[in-house]
Amino acid sequence: MDTGERLQKTLARAGYGSRRACELLIDAGRVTIDGRVAGLGNRVDPEISEIRVDGLLAPTAPNLVYFLLNKPAGVVTTADDPQGRATVLTLVNTSVRIFPVGRLDMNTEGLLLLTNDGRLAHLITHPSSHVSKEYLVRVVGDPSPGSIRKLREGVELDDGVTSPAQVSRVSEGVLRIVIHEGRNRQVRRMCAAIGHEVIRLVRTRIGPISDATLAPGQARQLSLGEVRKLMEAVGVARDDNSTIQS
Ligand code: URA
Repeated sequence: MDTGERLQKTLARAGYGSRRACELLIDAGRVTIDGRVAGLGNRVDPEISEIRVDGLLAPTAPNLVYFLLNKPAGVVTTADDPQGRATVLTLVNTSVRIFPVGRLDMNTEGLLLLTNDGRLAHLITHPSSHVSKEYLVRVVGDPSPGSIRKLREGVELDDGVTSPAQVSRVSEGVLRIVIHEGRNRQVRRMCAAIGHEVIRLVRTRIGPISDATLAPGQARQLSLGEVRKLMEAVGVARDDNSTIQS
Protein backbone atom coordinates (compact mmCIF):
# COMPACT_ATOMS: atom_id res chain seq x y z
CA MET A 1 0.00 0.00 0.00
CA ASP A 2 1.46 3.38 -1.04
CA THR A 3 -0.97 5.44 0.94
CA GLY A 4 -1.93 5.10 4.56
CA GLU A 5 0.04 5.39 7.74
CA ARG A 6 3.60 4.24 8.15
CA LEU A 7 3.57 0.89 9.89
CA GLN A 8 6.05 1.95 12.58
CA LYS A 9 3.78 4.90 13.47
CA THR A 10 0.74 2.61 13.80
CA LEU A 11 2.69 0.16 15.94
CA ALA A 12 4.12 2.88 18.17
CA ARG A 13 0.59 4.19 18.78
CA ALA A 14 -0.49 0.66 19.63
CA GLY A 15 2.05 0.48 22.45
CA TYR A 16 5.02 -1.30 20.88
CA GLY A 17 7.54 1.35 21.93
CA SER A 18 9.14 4.22 20.03
CA ARG A 19 8.95 4.41 16.25
CA ARG A 20 12.60 3.37 16.16
CA ALA A 21 11.85 0.32 18.32
CA CYS A 22 8.98 -0.53 15.97
CA GLU A 23 11.25 -0.23 12.94
CA LEU A 24 13.53 -2.81 14.56
CA LEU A 25 10.54 -5.13 15.07
CA ILE A 26 9.62 -4.75 11.40
CA ASP A 27 13.21 -5.21 10.27
CA ALA A 28 13.44 -8.41 12.31
CA GLY A 29 10.53 -9.86 10.34
CA ARG A 30 8.30 -10.06 13.42
CA VAL A 31 5.44 -8.04 11.96
CA THR A 32 2.86 -9.17 9.40
CA ILE A 33 0.24 -7.19 7.51
CA ASP A 34 -2.73 -9.26 6.38
CA GLY A 35 -0.67 -12.42 6.66
CA ARG A 36 2.44 -11.18 4.83
CA VAL A 37 5.73 -10.34 6.54
CA ALA A 38 6.03 -6.55 6.62
CA GLY A 39 9.01 -4.55 5.47
CA LEU A 40 10.37 -1.14 6.40
CA GLY A 41 8.46 1.54 4.51
CA ASN A 42 5.18 -0.38 4.45
CA ARG A 43 2.05 1.66 5.02
CA VAL A 44 -1.23 0.44 6.44
CA ASP A 45 -4.81 1.46 7.00
CA PRO A 46 -5.18 0.92 10.77
CA GLU A 47 -8.97 0.60 10.34
CA ILE A 48 -8.77 -2.45 8.10
CA SER A 49 -5.27 -3.92 7.99
CA GLU A 50 -4.74 -6.98 10.17
CA ILE A 51 -1.42 -6.32 11.84
CA ARG A 52 0.29 -8.94 13.94
CA VAL A 53 3.49 -8.91 15.96
CA ASP A 54 5.02 -12.31 16.63
CA GLY A 55 1.77 -13.78 15.36
CA LEU A 56 -0.35 -11.90 17.92
CA LEU A 57 -2.93 -9.45 16.72
CA ALA A 58 -1.91 -5.86 17.48
CA PRO A 59 -4.52 -3.45 18.92
CA THR A 60 -4.29 -0.95 16.07
CA ALA A 61 -7.99 -0.31 15.35
CA PRO A 62 -8.46 3.35 16.28
CA ASN A 63 -12.09 3.39 17.39
CA LEU A 64 -11.88 0.91 20.20
CA VAL A 65 -11.82 2.13 23.79
CA TYR A 66 -10.86 0.27 26.94
CA PHE A 67 -11.57 1.47 30.48
CA LEU A 68 -10.57 0.14 33.87
CA LEU A 69 -12.98 0.90 36.70
CA ASN A 70 -12.49 0.37 40.40
CA LYS A 71 -16.06 -0.68 41.12
CA PRO A 72 -17.36 0.23 44.54
CA ALA A 73 -19.80 -2.02 46.39
CA GLY A 74 -23.49 -1.32 45.80
CA VAL A 75 -23.25 -0.70 42.05
CA VAL A 76 -24.59 -3.22 39.55
CA THR A 77 -22.47 -4.44 36.66
CA THR A 78 -25.25 -4.68 34.07
CA ALA A 79 -25.39 -1.95 31.43
CA ASP A 80 -29.05 -1.31 32.14
CA ASP A 81 -30.79 -2.11 35.42
CA PRO A 82 -34.58 -2.56 35.24
CA GLN A 83 -34.80 -1.66 38.94
CA GLY A 84 -33.11 1.68 38.27
CA ARG A 85 -30.09 1.05 40.49
CA ALA A 86 -26.74 2.76 39.81
CA THR A 87 -24.78 0.87 37.17
CA VAL A 88 -21.07 0.76 36.48
CA LEU A 89 -21.66 2.74 33.28
CA THR A 90 -22.60 5.82 35.27
CA LEU A 91 -19.05 5.82 36.68
CA VAL A 92 -17.27 5.96 33.32
CA ASN A 93 -17.15 9.32 31.62
CA THR A 94 -17.47 8.56 27.92
CA SER A 95 -19.95 9.09 25.11
CA VAL A 96 -18.89 5.81 23.48
CA ARG A 97 -21.28 2.88 23.96
CA ILE A 98 -19.27 0.56 26.13
CA PHE A 99 -20.21 -2.51 28.12
CA PRO A 100 -18.69 -4.34 31.09
CA VAL A 101 -16.44 -7.33 30.44
CA GLY A 102 -17.95 -10.06 32.58
CA ARG A 103 -19.52 -9.08 35.85
CA LEU A 104 -18.87 -8.48 39.50
CA ASP A 105 -21.65 -9.04 42.03
CA MET A 106 -23.31 -5.93 43.36
CA ASN A 107 -21.37 -6.17 46.61
CA THR A 108 -18.04 -7.10 45.04
CA GLU A 109 -15.52 -4.30 44.66
CA GLY A 110 -12.49 -3.84 42.49
CA LEU A 111 -11.31 -3.94 38.95
CA LEU A 112 -13.69 -4.21 36.03
CA LEU A 113 -12.95 -3.67 32.36
CA LEU A 114 -15.38 -1.85 30.09
CA THR A 115 -14.97 -1.60 26.34
CA ASN A 116 -16.68 -1.47 22.97
CA ASP A 117 -14.37 -4.23 21.72
CA GLY A 118 -16.76 -7.18 21.64
CA ARG A 119 -14.13 -9.51 20.33
CA LEU A 120 -11.66 -8.94 23.16
CA ALA A 121 -14.49 -9.02 25.74
CA HIS A 122 -15.61 -12.36 24.37
CA LEU A 123 -12.09 -13.73 24.50
CA ILE A 124 -11.55 -12.59 28.09
CA THR A 125 -14.83 -14.00 29.38
CA HIS A 126 -14.79 -17.22 27.41
CA PRO A 127 -14.28 -20.22 29.73
CA SER A 128 -11.33 -21.42 27.70
CA SER A 129 -9.47 -18.10 27.84
CA HIS A 130 -7.82 -18.85 31.21
CA VAL A 131 -7.22 -15.20 32.03
CA SER A 132 -6.45 -15.20 35.73
CA LYS A 133 -8.40 -13.03 38.16
CA GLU A 134 -7.05 -12.21 41.58
CA TYR A 135 -9.26 -11.44 44.58
CA LEU A 136 -8.63 -10.32 48.13
CA VAL A 137 -11.24 -11.96 50.27
CA ARG A 138 -12.21 -11.32 53.89
CA VAL A 139 -14.14 -14.22 55.33
CA VAL A 140 -15.84 -15.04 58.59
CA GLY A 141 -13.33 -16.89 60.79
CA ASP A 142 -9.82 -17.94 59.79
CA PRO A 143 -9.60 -20.81 57.27
CA SER A 144 -7.33 -23.65 58.36
CA PRO A 145 -4.41 -24.83 56.19
CA GLY A 146 -6.57 -27.87 55.30
CA SER A 147 -9.43 -25.67 54.09
CA ILE A 148 -7.02 -23.55 52.08
CA ARG A 149 -5.63 -26.71 50.51
CA LYS A 150 -9.17 -27.72 49.51
CA LEU A 151 -9.67 -24.34 47.81
CA ARG A 152 -6.41 -24.85 45.95
CA GLU A 153 -7.22 -28.34 44.78
CA GLY A 154 -10.87 -27.72 43.87
CA VAL A 155 -14.12 -27.72 45.81
CA GLU A 156 -17.45 -29.24 44.84
CA LEU A 157 -19.98 -26.60 43.78
CA ASP A 158 -23.47 -27.24 42.44
CA ASP A 159 -22.13 -26.63 38.90
CA GLY A 160 -19.11 -28.92 39.31
CA VAL A 161 -15.70 -29.05 40.96
CA THR A 162 -13.63 -25.89 40.67
CA SER A 163 -10.34 -25.95 38.79
CA PRO A 164 -7.11 -25.64 40.78
CA ALA A 165 -6.69 -22.15 42.23
CA GLN A 166 -3.82 -20.27 43.82
CA VAL A 167 -4.78 -19.50 47.38
CA SER A 168 -2.70 -17.90 50.10
CA ARG A 169 -3.51 -16.58 53.56
CA VAL A 170 -2.67 -12.88 53.77
CA SER A 171 -3.64 -12.39 57.41
CA GLU A 172 -6.26 -13.67 59.85
CA GLY A 173 -9.47 -14.17 57.85
CA VAL A 174 -8.01 -12.68 54.67
CA LEU A 175 -7.16 -14.78 51.62
CA ARG A 176 -5.70 -13.99 48.23
CA ILE A 177 -7.41 -16.21 45.65
CA VAL A 178 -6.45 -16.44 41.98
CA ILE A 179 -8.88 -18.27 39.71
CA HIS A 180 -8.93 -18.85 35.98
CA GLU A 181 -12.61 -19.63 35.65
CA GLY A 182 -15.40 -17.08 35.78
CA ARG A 183 -18.42 -18.87 37.16
CA ASN A 184 -21.24 -16.97 38.73
CA ARG A 185 -20.41 -15.91 42.33
CA GLN A 186 -17.53 -18.35 42.20
CA VAL A 187 -15.32 -17.00 44.98
CA ARG A 188 -18.25 -16.57 47.37
CA ARG A 189 -19.42 -20.11 46.65
CA MET A 190 -15.89 -21.55 46.99
CA CYS A 191 -15.50 -19.94 50.40
CA ALA A 192 -18.99 -21.06 51.46
CA ALA A 193 -18.03 -24.60 50.44
CA ILE A 194 -15.25 -24.60 53.06
CA GLY A 195 -17.57 -23.07 55.65
CA HIS A 196 -16.36 -19.47 55.54
CA GLU A 197 -18.84 -16.88 54.38
CA VAL A 198 -17.36 -13.92 52.48
CA ILE A 199 -17.56 -10.58 54.25
CA ARG A 200 -15.72 -8.51 51.66
CA LEU A 201 -14.56 -9.35 48.15
CA VAL A 202 -12.25 -7.17 46.07
CA ARG A 203 -10.89 -8.02 42.62
CA THR A 204 -7.31 -6.78 42.45
CA ARG A 205 -6.12 -8.06 39.07
CA ILE A 206 -7.47 -9.18 35.71
CA GLY A 207 -4.75 -11.04 33.82
CA PRO A 208 -1.91 -8.53 33.45
CA ILE A 209 -4.04 -5.55 34.55
CA SER A 210 -3.87 -4.18 38.09
CA ASP A 211 -3.86 -0.69 39.58
CA ALA A 212 -3.62 -0.14 43.32
CA THR A 213 -3.80 3.64 42.83
CA LEU A 214 -7.25 3.74 41.24
CA ALA A 215 -9.67 4.94 43.92
CA PRO A 216 -13.08 3.25 44.34
CA GLY A 217 -15.52 4.75 41.85
CA GLN A 218 -12.74 6.00 39.58
CA ALA A 219 -12.17 4.87 36.01
CA ARG A 220 -9.35 5.44 33.56
CA GLN A 221 -8.54 4.38 30.04
CA LEU A 222 -6.12 1.51 29.66
CA SER A 223 -2.81 2.46 28.13
CA LEU A 224 -2.09 0.95 24.76
CA GLY A 225 0.62 -1.15 26.35
CA GLU A 226 -1.99 -2.56 28.76
CA VAL A 227 -4.37 -3.36 25.90
CA ARG A 228 -1.56 -5.14 24.13
CA LYS A 229 -0.72 -7.19 27.22
CA LEU A 230 -4.39 -8.09 27.59
CA MET A 231 -4.52 -9.27 24.00
CA GLU A 232 -1.44 -11.36 24.59
CA ALA A 233 -2.98 -12.80 27.76
CA VAL A 234 -6.07 -13.98 25.91
CA GLY A 235 -3.84 -15.43 23.24
CA VAL A 236 -5.19 -13.48 20.30
CA ALA A 237 -2.97 -15.84 18.54
CA ARG A 238 -1.62 -17.00 15.24
CA ASP A 239 -4.91 -18.23 13.94
CA ASP A 240 -7.42 -16.57 16.21
CA ASN A 241 -10.38 -17.99 14.28
CA SER A 242 -9.39 -21.38 15.51
CA THR A 243 -8.46 -20.52 19.09
CA ILE A 244 -11.78 -19.67 20.69
CA GLN A 245 -15.22 -20.22 19.28
CA SER A 246 -18.47 -19.07 20.82
N1 URA B 1 -16.60 -14.25 42.57
C1 URA B 1 -17.70 -13.89 43.25
O1 URA B 1 -18.19 -14.63 44.08
N2 URA B 1 -18.23 -12.70 42.98
C2 URA B 1 -17.72 -11.83 42.08
O2 URA B 1 -18.24 -10.74 41.90
C3 URA B 1 -16.56 -12.23 41.39
C4 URA B 1 -16.03 -13.45 41.65
